[in-house]
Amino acid sequence: MPDMSPHFRIAPSILSADFARLGEEVRAVIHAGADVIHFDVMDNHYVPNLTIGPMVCAALKPHAKRADGTPIPIDVHLMVKPVDRIVPDFAQAGANIISFHPEASDHVDRTLGLIREQGCKAGLVFNPVTPLSYLDYVMDKVDLILIMSVNPGFGGQKFIPEALTKLREAKRRIQDSGRDIWLEVDGGVRTDNIAAIAEAGADTLVAGSAIFGPGDYAATISAMRAELAKVKR
Ligand code: DX5
Ligand code: ZN
Repeated sequence: MPDMSPHFRIAPSILSADFARLGEEVRAVIHAGADVIHFDVMDNHYVPNLTIGPMVCAALKPHAKRADGTPIPIDVHLMVKPVDRIVPDFAQAGANIISFHPEASDHVDRTLGLIREQGCKAGLVFNPVTPLSYLDYVMDKVDLILIMSVNPGFGGQKFIPEALTKLREAKRRIQDSGRDIWLEVDGGVRTDNIAAIAEAGADTLVAGSAIFGPGDYAATISAMRAELAKVKR
């Protein structure tokens, strides 16, 4: 009997971790069951906040693995403008996935190509009002679609429900393409809404404050998994 249960990935955003102890925090959240490490890069230009760059990514890379040595992907979410200059630096620093906002690149197709040339998976990110039509001619160049369910720039904001409509539409586009494209959601994901979000089509769920806020990472991640187990697709 094949396993018919959908596979979900939980991606803690280290934006809400203790920045004075980031390596330890990455190890702790992986030990607690994280599938992916979400790494938010903000430049105080494209978004009104400033965070971490390639040097921090390189420093965390050795920590991004399970106790048995299995590597855990680092998912770099670029909220920077311009995009291209910094892509090779993140690839060198050990990023596995690099996603960017189409409004931040003058040549979206070229940037997607550049990310793959650098050996990473390429993602496009959609702000709450950014139309999915940016995908029209690039489905073959995209490995991940990230739907923002808050306006980018800060952790701890409230989930914008209209993102569910957009997730359904993105899921439909992925199915029509017949490609293996991850559908990620970012912003305001919590234990009490994660099932509805997954039901709308998301397979990769970013959560920052909901995981790092309460403190017991394993308890939160298992509560999220228990909710995800109820999802019918
Ligand atoms: C917001 C970032 C998110 C943020 C999510 O611009 O892209 O990844 O960390 O934080 P929560 O889960 O607290 O909404
Ligand atoms: Zn993010």
